[in-house]
Amino acid sequence: MGGSLLKYHEHKAFSPFSNKLPTPSQFIEEFNTYYTFLEKSGKFLESYDQKKLSGTIKELLNHIFQDLIDSSASEKNELQHFLKELYLYSDQLLDRDLKNFFLKPKSFHAQKLVIPSCQAMEWANCLFSDRYFTGKISCQTLKTLQSVVQPIIEDFRYRALKGNTKRENLSINDGHEVQELVKIINSEFEESGVNLAISSYHSCPMKVGGLAVELSVENANWWNDSYGVYNEGINTIYMHTDESLSVPKAIVYLTDVSEKNGPFSVINHGLEYLSPSPIQFLLGRIIGCVGRNKSSSLYDYYQHHYHKTFGCPKYREHFMYLPEDIQYNSHFGWDIIPSSFIEKELLDQENIQIGDAGSYTVFDGSRLVHRGGLLKEGERIALQVCFVPVPTVPTLKARIINRVKSKFNTSLIK
Ligand SMILES: [Fe+2]
Repeated sequence: MGGSLLKYHEHKAFSPFSNKLPTPSQFIEEFNTYYTFLEKSGKFLESYDQKKLSGTIKELLNHIFQDLIDSSASEKNELQHFLKELYLYSDQLLDRDLKNFFLKPKSFHAQKLVIPSCQAMEWANCLFSDRYFTGKISCQTLKTLQSVVQPIIEDFRYRALKGNTKRENLSINDGHEVQELVKIINSEFEESGVNLAISSYHSCPMKVGGLAVELSVENANWWNDSYGVYNEGINTIYMHTDESLSVPKAIVYLTDVSEKNGPFSVINHGLEYLSPSPIQFLLGRIIGCVGRNKSSSLYDYYQHHYHKTFGCPKYREHFMYLPEDIQYNSHFGWDIIPSSFIEKELLDQENIQIGDAGSYTVFDGSRLVHRGGLLKEGERIALQVCFVPVPTVPTLKARIINRVKSKFNTSLIK
């Protein structure tokens, strides 16, 4: 099994760090085989086998890290902290991935659809083949959404004027307005067949579970080149895939979006092109968490720079210690060498979503390389919508059984 096409030793921001830990090859190969098998077949396994195989793959991950930690014993203590934290996060993410792989398919229905369900089927097919599809909400829904977000946006514009342009200052995902927006967009997506397409892709009934209102402004610089080692600009900045396998998303424009005001874009089959191996795919999605939390012993290391992760040279040095077989970063956009063949391929496959207000893209962010919100001028108002499984109502039979069980337990306690 090969690995990611990204070659960090050729990148000027990484190449000065040439130390490498030995590769625990056998454990890595076995891990990759187990992961691929469980991803494809996990949901068909009996729960006994699911438990047993989960135990084995988790043990393999443990062996990989134990080997790495043992071989780093002669190095500085911080490298061991880096590896231990990386193990902790990847073990937790592996649990979440396995939970996703083991979800049993549930039936869903399409009786509420107003427009022909052929559209929903086409969208579902697009999700399976391309990991995304596009559509447009009705004018009436757009107007309602725009009026609900208006006071939020006024507040964001005021903050931006004061220089608060960090993403967290210009985004909100809770409060009564957000709840109202969730209801509106869910009913639109229910009627148009978006929820049905997502349900089909996820093999269970899905609905809109939450959203964030976001304002993108031109003086924001959170996405700037943090390495500064190449004279040419980095053309792939912020290309990435998301961490969670179980949260499909939609981005809905509430303003017209051109090439200049931060269009969302997808890179067709970008992940397949880069082809990270299963362990790279796992580690790469959480490696950016190492040292980032204030509770981490590494947070303030290296003159308070370590929490900037890839923006800190010491962090990059630790990253370079990792054997190539497990080295990957899902937020790789900053790591692509300008004018390289990989850059050309990614840019050639980039599909920029220019659209009027009301246009949307529904996508599987964990499997589709994407980016957006990088403004050259103007502003962009958008909703980042996420879908969740519809909670199942227990059947009458299940309710009766539960009631009998609880009465039985109560009588035992007495
Ligand atoms: Fe994303």
